Amino acid sequence: MAETPKFTPRVFSGIQPSGSLTLGNYLGAMTKFVDWQNRGTHETIFCMVDLHAITVPQAPDTLRHNTRELCAGFLASGIDPEKSILINQSRVPEHAQLGWIFNCVARMGWMGRMTQWKDKSGKNAEAASLGLFAYPALMAADILLYKSTHVPVGEDQKQHIELTRDIAAKFNHDYDVDFFPMTAPVIEGAATRIMSLKDGTKKMSKSDPVEASRINLTDDADAIAKKFKKAKTDPDPLPGTPEGLEGRPDARNLVNIYAALAETSVADVLAANEGKMFGYFKQDLADLAVSKLSPVSTEMARLMKDPAEIDRVLARGSERAREISVPVLEQVYDIIGMVR
Ligand code: TYM
Repeated sequence: MAETPKFTPRVFSGIQPSGSLTLGNYLGAMTKFVDWQNRGTHETIFCMVDLHAITVPQAPDTLRHNTRELCAGFLASGIDPEKSILINQSRVPEHAQLGWIFNCVARMGWMGRMTQWKDKSGKNAEAASLGLFAYPALMAADILLYKSTHVPVGEDQKQHIELTRDIAAKFNHDYDVDFFPMTAPVIEGAATRIMSLKDGTKKMSKSDPVEASRINLTDDADAIAKKFKKAKTDPDPLPGTPEGLEGRPDARNLVNIYAALAETSVADVLAANEGKMFGYFKQDLADLAVSKLSPVSTEMARLMKDPAEIDRVLARGSERAREISVPVLEQVYDIIGMVR
């Protein structure tokens, strides 16, 4: 849908501080965020969604560490806190406040249909937290609190952005206003769904119990090389065209990762590597990954030596965010009839 001109062009996206950042987060989200920031066409807001992280149990010290490390990851990847607004969600209380209002707009049936809810609550939904069920309403609040027009995400978040549009539309309809935009998801490029190195049909995830299934941004060169070497493949050599990857999810995943890291197309990677055995290709892939990721992990480690500076970045970000979020929430309260 075309962007509604009445809304300021604004990009918002978030990442959960629920574990180490993975190559999937980096290629599917971080690098896209940096592109949006540097394009300069939109205001950009990026968020560490700590309130979302606690929808499943988190040890307090680990959560604190992961939030700071995620902030270091944003900075090391190229997010400039002067150009973009960088926040952690809990520090901007309007997220939770608008989240509550959206709990009252969204319908139980909508939430129950979310695939992430079904996957994460598993067979024992009775024992899942109420927060896990309401997760997408808080996510809609993150986005709509800033009347964001565009949300760059990986493929797995598409359904949540669709629900955000449903919530915006129902709010606008129920209160007869044209207040929230119909936010557009932006899901583009070779890296929208990086898969597990151990199973090319499963998403690479920070919460996968199998460590060898993912590359973490904190992995050193040795660990990266070992994980790629042990990545699952099939016995056939690389094909010359993308059609030759049909029915070969593990092979396709490695080629996709290479293309995304090299900032080129899958077709070009295959044209240059036709007939190569995966043993050799995996070595090239490991070298490429190390050359791209090492500067990021070295910078993250440097930033983590000064957590107070990270906290200052987040404090300043939340002040800037609240210049937008406080008036928006005030208007929402007014629309829905809260006495102020
Ligand atoms: P999270 O923390 O799971 O992931 C953060 C971002 O990384 C992308 N991503 C991937 N992309 C490609 N391949 C993968 N294997 C891969 N794994 C993760 C995700 O698609 C996402 O873009 N619900 C969100 C967090 C959130 C949010 C928001 C996002 C909360 N509020 C508002 C956008 C806007 C989540 O759990 O992302």
